[in-house]
Amino acid sequence: MSGATYATGWFVVAISEELATGEVLSLQYFGQKLVLFRGESGEATVLDAHCPHLGADLGVGGTVVGDSIRCPFHAWRFGADGGCVEIPYCISGKIPPRARVRAWTVSEKNGLVFVWHDTFGRAPSYEIPPIAEHGDPAWTPWTMSLMTIRTAPREIIENVADRAHFPRVHSTEIDSFENAFEGHLGIQRASGTAYPRAGGSDKFKLTATYHGPAYQVTEMESFLPNRLINAHTPIDETTLHLRFGVMLKKMASEEKMARYANGYRDNLQIGFAEDVQIWENKAWRDRPMLCDGDGAIGALRRWYRQFYLPPAAEEHPG
Ligand code: FES
Ligand SMILES: [Fe+2]
Repeated sequence: MSGATYATGWFVVAISEELATGEVLSLQYFGQKLVLFRGESGEATVLDAHCPHLGADLGVGGTVVGDSIRCPFHAWRFGADGGCVEIPYCISGKIPPRARVRAWTVSEKNGLVFVWHDTFGRAPSYEIPPIAEHGDPAWTPWTMSLMTIRTAPREIIENVADRAHFPRVHSTEIDSFENAFEGHLGIQRASGTAYPRAGGSDKFKLTATYHGPAYQVTEMESFLPNRLINAHTPIDETTLHLRFGVMLKKMASEEKMARYANGYRDNLQIGFAEDVQIWENKAWRDRPMLCDGDGAIGALRRWYRQFYLPPAAEEHPG
C-alpha cells in the first residue's frame, strides 16, 4: 500500500479505568514508545516516551506531579503540552526552549483513551461520537478483552466486507449482508443466526460502523440487545493489539447480567481466535481472485486506502 506505514485516525491506546489519577502507563504503538498519564485535573496525556535530556523512558519510573510528569533519571518535568516546565538543578534557572517531547492529541470517549495518529501531522478530521448507552444505568458497563495478534490492520478491516467467512469461520448463517462507505465511515449491516460453540442459537441483526480506520462500534439486536466495540492499534509493522468489549441491556439480575456479559465476551474471544488462526498464517493478496458471492471487498479496500494517503494525494485522487 502506498503512503504512510500506519493509518491516519483515532486509535484506542487504553481503557479509561486502567488509568487512575496520578497513574502512568508505558505504551508501545506505531513502532515507538509512548507514555500515558492522568494528571490531577483528570486529563489523560500522551507524550513520546524518551526524555530529550539523556533519553530515559518517562513511562518506566516516571511520576505524575500535578498535570506534569517527572523523569525518573534527573527529574526534569514535562507538562501536558510536552514542554519542559522544571529542571531542578539548572543553575541559571533557564529551561532550554528545545527541551520538549511530542504531545499527542488525546480524546477520551466511551470509557476509552484514543490518540490521533497522522504521519503527516494533520489535525483530527473527524470525532469519535459518544455511545448513548455508555454510562446508562439500564446497560452493563464494558466487559473488555485485549489480544496481541501477529498480523496487519488491513486483515482485521477485511472482515467488514467478507461475508463468505462467517459461516465457515464463525458458524454464523447470514440472511442479509450489505456494506456502505461514507467518508470516514465503513458500515456493515447484517442479519442472521449465530450458533455459539456452547450450543443453542441466537438470531441477530446488526449495524457495525468503523469510525475511521481502527475503531468499530456495533449495535446488535439479539437475545440480549448489545453494543460491541472492536478496536485495533498497531504495535509495530507486524503486530497489533485488538481490544473488544461488550455492553448489554440489563434484562435480568446484576449477577445474571454479569454472567451473560462474560459469556458474550468469551464468545467474541472465541470468534476472534478463529479469525486469528487465519490472519496469522495467511498471505496478503493485492489482487485476490474473487467470485460473485464475495461482496464489496474491492470497495472496502478503496475506502480503507484513504487513511494512508499523504495530503497531496488526498487533494488530487488518482
Ligand atoms: S534523562 Fe530525563 S531528566 Fe535526564
Ligand atoms: Fe471474522
